[in-house]
This record gives sequence, structure tokens and C-alpha cells, in this order.
Amino acid sequence: MKQMRQVSVRLAGRENYEIEIGANALARVGDTARRSLSPHARRVAVVSNARVFKLYGAGVLRDLRAAGFAVSHWLMGDGERHKNLRTAERALAFFSESKLERTDAVVALGGGVVGDLAGFAAAVYLRGIGFLQVPTTLLAQIDASVGGKTAVNTREGKNLIGAFHQPRAVVISTATLATLPTRELTAGWCEAIKQGAVGSRPLFEQTRRFLVAEQTGEAARELERASRRADELAELIAAQCSFKAKIVSADEREDVSRTDARSRRILNFGHTTAHALEAVTRYRRFRHGEAVGYGMLVAAEISNRLGMLAASELESLRACVQLAGRLPRADDLDERAILRAIASDKKSVGGHVRWVLLERIGRARIVSGQEIPPRVVRAALRAALAGSLTDEKRG
Ligand SMILES: NC(=O)c1ccc[n+]([C@@H]2O[C@H](COP(=O)([O-])OP(=O)(O)OC[C@H]3O[C@@H](n4cnc5c(N)ncnc54)[C@H](O)[C@@H]3O)[C@@H](O)[C@H]2O)c1
Ligand SMILES: [Zn+2]
Repeated sequence: MKQMRQVSVRLAGRENYEIEIGANALARVGDTARRSLSPHARRVAVVSNARVFKLYGAGVLRDLRAAGFAVSHWLMGDGERHKNLRTAERALAFFSESKLERTDAVVALGGGVVGDLAGFAAAVYLRGIGFLQVPTTLLAQIDASVGGKTAVNTREGKNLIGAFHQPRAVVISTATLATLPTRELTAGWCEAIKQGAVGSRPLFEQTRRFLVAEQTGEAARELERASRRADELAELIAAQCSFKAKIVSADEREDVSRTDARSRRILNFGHTTAHALEAVTRYRRFRHGEAVGYGMLVAAEISNRLGMLAASELESLRACVQLAGRLPRADDLDERAILRAIASDKKSVGGHVRWVLLERIGRARIVSGQEIPPRVVRAALRAALAGSLTDEKRG
């Protein structure tokens, strides 16, 4: 078996847990479950969806059974609209039918939707049972599966009901990304760029280099190269997880009073505008990560206009977002509607929007919306959404 990478997530006053990363990591789910769950664990309930389960379900079930667990599985609908309380209730009924006890566990096999839903159900079932994340989208591998946030959506908004519930382990198989649709990859890369932009220049550079190599089509041709690329991918995902894990360890519950450059809130870079873009298009045009692609540019444009961020840094960010892939157009959207949506962002504190801006690549600064003149936000929006990232204009 190829080399596995491990990232530890440290939590104050509790047991650490491991993120295991490797091309063949799926073959380790049983082993990992044995090591990380209670010694009394007998039953494991796998939650997935039809698309992912068809690709990877049989292997995961086999592996868990080989490790001695009684395994049942249940498939939820595919897509964000299924991440709601009704689905959670069905998942809970399935756990009961599977006779899961306090020491048993749930395995979430899929993207962030499955992870959030299954994690939430695991958090409330018997007031919390163990769960394992087996993320299969890039976004879930570098972001959603790390950090212990679980949630469902309601009619009033996304992720408004949830719980902090850390997994016992995360198992990341990079091989699963081979079947991921291009747009999902683009969305994941945008979040990866985000983590580099607010995290550290080396992380940003590592991400950028990987994307450049991807573009030059250097991939997959020869076996030797393909395996080197696979290794680089695993290393990059490990670096991304390690960054997110570090932020989470230092600010597990996202303390709203914190405004420093290492608070969990910096992960919201690009998200003020992204949420607005998603809302004004009724969640139909953009994958969330694609909207973050534009959102980061808006925040960087604001930073530049406030004299905080050098033009060359803004340009590096723009070039990197371009490498992530094509984004749906955004230059036809109603500017006033976007501004209204920004003003009602749910992450505001005391009624004021808090922008995550950049001082440079790798260094974020949280700024209250009150300190930013509206004309600066308007100009930044116009510049960032101007269409250079879409299909037609990329030449
Ligand atoms: N908890 C957190 O901290 C956190 C952080 C970020 C995002 N999220 C949540 O994550 C969700 C988005 O997750 P996502 O982007 O992974 O979307 P997703 O879970 O909807 O997956 C995207 C699509 O890819 C399919 N898919 C998954 N893995 C595949 C594979 N290996 N091959 C082929 N198809 C595959 C899915 O079936 C789905 O159709 C949102 O609900 C968001 O709120 C949570
Ligand atoms: Zn996001």
C-alpha cells in the first residue's frame, strides 16, 4: 500500500483524533474504525447517497465487516435540498432500527451534504454517538469534514440548525476524486485557495503549483508521473487539513468576539459575497465554492481599495482563482440585490457585517462593514464580477 499521511486534530481537554489521507485510504476504514471507536462498538451504520454508494459503498461495507462490525446502510437523497430536518429524522429512525447503542457509530460516506447531515444525526442520537467522516468531494476533504461543525438547513436559511460534534476519525481517499464532476472540483479548489489566502503563503503556493501542473496537462500520462501526482495531491490535502485543524483547535466554537488573524472566522474569507451571490441566484447558478471564487476577489478588491493589499497580491489571487476552473457568469446580476443580500448576511455580529479582508496572501484581517465606504464595496463588486473568469472570456 502507498504511503499514508496523518494529520492530528488536537482539542482542548479531549482526545485528539486523526485524519488519514492516501490514495487507498478507503481500504483502511475498518481498521481506523476499530482503532478510533469505543472497544465496545459492535454496530456501524453507514450513511451515504445513491451516487456515491454505487461507486464506493460495497468496498466500505466489506472493509467494515472484515473488521468485525455488524454493518447497515442507508441512502439519503443527493443534493443540498435534502440536508434538512426531515432527512435527519429519517436518519435517526434508521439508527434506531439498526439498534445502534451509545458505543456504536455512524460512518458518513459522501460529500459535505452527507457529512453534515449524518454528523448532525450522530450528534443528537442518544445525545451523541461516535462518527467517522469518509469525505469523497474535494471540498469535504479539505474543509467540511474537518472541524466538527454539523448542520441542516431550514426554510429560513442554510446551516441554521446544527451542533458541534467532532468525528472520531476522518478517512480521506484521494482516489475518490477521480470520479468527481469538474464543477465540484473547481468549487473545492476555490475553498483550497481560500485556505491558502488566509492561512499562509506556502499553503497558497503549494495549492497554486498543483493547479498550474494540472493545467499544463502534465498529469496521468505515464504511470510514474501519475503516481507522483497522486502523492502530491495527498500531500496538498494533508497540508490543507492541517491548516484547518490548527485553526479549529485554537477556536473550536468560533468565538464571535475574536477578530484576530487566527480566529476561526477568517475561514469566512470570500463568504460574505458568496452567500449573497448564492441567495440572489436562489442557489441555482453557483456551486457554493464557485461563489467563494468570486467572493474572495471582491474581498481582495476591497482590501486593495482600502490601501491594505498590494495590487500584485490581488493579481496573484485572481490568477489562482482562474486556475481553479471556469466559473458561471456573475456580471449580469443585479448589483443592488447583491448589496442588500450582503447587508443581511447571517454571519453579521450585532447587526454589522464583518468582512474578512487581506493584508497580504497568507494574512487576513477582520474589518467591520461600518469602516468600509459603500462606494468601495460597489466598485469592488463591479471589478470582481466583471466576467473575466467565465467561459467566454477565458479564450
Ligand atoms: N461542516 C462544515 O464545516 C462545512 C464546511 C463547508 C461546507 N459544508 C457543507 O458542505 C456541503 C457541500 O458539500 P459538497 O461540496 O461536498 O457537496 P455535495 O455533498 O452535495 O457533493 C457534491 C456532488 O458530488 C457527488 N459526489 C460526492 N462524491 C463524489 C465522488 N467521489 N464521485 C462522484 N460524485 C461524487 C454528490 O453526490 C453530489 O452530487 C454544504 O451543505 C455545506 O454547507 C460544511
Ligand atoms: Zn465555504
